[in-house]
Amino acid sequence: MLKKGGLYYPTTRFKNKAWVNDRKIYKEGEKNPVKFWEKLARELFWFKKWQKPFEHTPPYFKWFLGGKINITSSIFEGSPQGWDKIKDKTALIWEPEPTDQPSRIFTYQDLFSLVSQFANALKKLGIKKGDRVGIYLPMVPEIIISMLACARIGAVHTVVFSAYSSSALQIRLQGSEAKILITADGYYRRGKIINLKQGADEGIKGTKIERVIVVKRAVNEIPWQKGKDLWWDELIKDENTKCEAEIMDSEDLLFLLATSGSTGRPKQIVHNCGGYTVQAYWTGKWIFDFHPEDILWCTSDLGWITGHSYTCYSPLLNGITTLIFEGAPDFPAPDRWAKIIEEHKVTIFYTAPTAIRMFERYGTEILKDYKFETLRLLGSVGEPIDEGAWLWYFNEVGKGRCPLVDTWWQTETGGILITSLPGIGPFKPTFTGLPFPGTKFDIFDDEGKSCLPGKEGNLVLLPPFTPGLLRGVYKNPEKYLETYWSQYSKETYFTSDGAFKDENGLIRIIGRVDDVIKVAGHRVATGELENAINKHPEISESAVVGIPDEIKGEVPVAFICYTGAENLEHFKKEVVEQIRKEIGPIALPKEIYLVEDLPKTRSGKIMRRILKRLFTGEELGDLSTLANPESVEGIKQKIKND
Ligand code: PRX
Repeated sequence: MLKKGGLYYPTTRFKNKAWVNDRKIYKEGEKNPVKFWEKLARELFWFKKWQKPFEHTPPYFKWFLGGKINITSSIFEGSPQGWDKIKDKTALIWEPEPTDQPSRIFTYQDLFSLVSQFANALKKLGIKKGDRVGIYLPMVPEIIISMLACARIGAVHTVVFSAYSSSALQIRLQGSEAKILITADGYYRRGKIINLKQGADEGIKGTKIERVIVVKRAVNEIPWQKGKDLWWDELIKDENTKCEAEIMDSEDLLFLLATSGSTGRPKQIVHNCGGYTVQAYWTGKWIFDFHPEDILWCTSDLGWITGHSYTCYSPLLNGITTLIFEGAPDFPAPDRWAKIIEEHKVTIFYTAPTAIRMFERYGTEILKDYKFETLRLLGSVGEPIDEGAWLWYFNEVGKGRCPLVDTWWQTETGGILITSLPGIGPFKPTFTGLPFPGTKFDIFDDEGKSCLPGKEGNLVLLPPFTPGLLRGVYKNPEKYLETYWSQYSKETYFTSDGAFKDENGLIRIIGRVDDVIKVAGHRVATGELENAINKHPEISESAVVGIPDEIKGEVPVAFICYTGAENLEHFKKEVVEQIRKEIGPIALPKEIYLVEDLPKTRSGKIMRRILKRLFTGEELGDLSTLANPESVEGIKQKIKND
């Protein structure tokens, strides 16, 4: 059993079998990162090799210029493992939420045929290379099939998390200008059927969506518009099971994924074909040490980048089995997730600290019958993991024998970029680890000087960046420049995360330095929440801050200027409903405080930092520079009394 303050290294057995087990790999990556990535890229299938590996015109950069590729050809007919070796292997396991319904299993050949059929159907509907296709699907096999079908024909998928509300869907569809939406009649969540089609119909209003393809999953009553709505099954049933891959330029668009930033509407992050493929393949292979017999369960929804890269693309590029689960991991009983691991013989389990803390909260007794003998590696992602959760995960789930990789990355980076490699280590609770070989990170102070070990600063990524880093914000070059390349220079990628290094260079992430909060690992902008709240007709002003939470890591609390209304409880409920409607249930505020005034600077800027400190116990700092210092005392009393 590993105790507090410890360091862990892989067992000799693990190390001997691991793809990388020698620290020399870091030196090799450092010596010439471009050459290093080129060598890695060669292992994949290209229709045509690139002419130039890297080009940098700050803030823009390109990788593998002139190379021709299609990510689905790298998965299927051009698999690095050899198509004949993988075609009859299980590619995908789907576990439904209701325990009385059977799982579905797809071999690589099954998946290839279905992807081709759906790709052909999309083509018949007029979808061409470069067209955007919206995907608003729950965790069903068709979500992966849709993504791959788009990639097969060069269409750009843009997945919207199915728990987002129709308003959130609408904004995202407007941002990507998608022409077709793929959705489902419904799905199961905690024993209930959620009618997704209804939400989809609302969400496409005011967008460019012409057709809606509907997967039959829940077999429930749904609204239907003849001519516009089409059943998935009917569309594909007579389609050919072969579809030639569209030959894509390395720098052609592969997908868009919306994510939250400090201000404004969600940004559509641009990921391109060649670099993303190379990075997805290699990061999975080395960080999760994918071997042919592995069965991976990455619990992230496909609607997030983690689902894109490590539920879909990376495991499939590596020819292993990926598992997806429709429901909540603690339904119908707290040990559902443990049952799934045992039943499906999962070997690699990748989840978020919030889930780990929730499992721990249910009590270790429920695990007494689970030996997890098939598990050989654990991963954590999405938010900082505290030492307690780390140790519990390592000892109780990994039984002290599985390497635990804490992986740092972002929607923008496309793949994991900071972690300990499982065949090398060390694994140090709360420290994510070292930059992936061939990537160059630093921690800068406000002047752009490198911070010494132990000193907090801003985490930055330096040239030549990585092949999978975002290439832009869709149709918004100003935002791209402003968000990522303007804090230090046009050659320094600003992550928006605070961090520090230990004396061995291991990096610890502290958290976001912008107005983004991570609620149960979900990325939410406080500004988006405020916009949702301010749409209520009786609210003129509000401020949302993230405060620490034992399970979810961080949760939003809202301060609302409100002087009217008699029934305050009813009003608070209305505010919650407003957020549910505008965004969805993923980031409902833990508390709502109705206040008279918000602390502001003399220029009128709301001082969210002060509001946050009222919860964290940090020094409030000098209040005399505020325009209304007395507001702080009033809020303090409110928090105390509520
Ligand atoms: O703050 C960091 C946090 O999640 C942010 C990125 O969120 P998103 O784009 O939704 O991608 C999440 C999954 C890749 C980062 O800026 N974050 C991610 N992983 C970690 C983390 N914080 C601490 N430790 C991590 N392992």
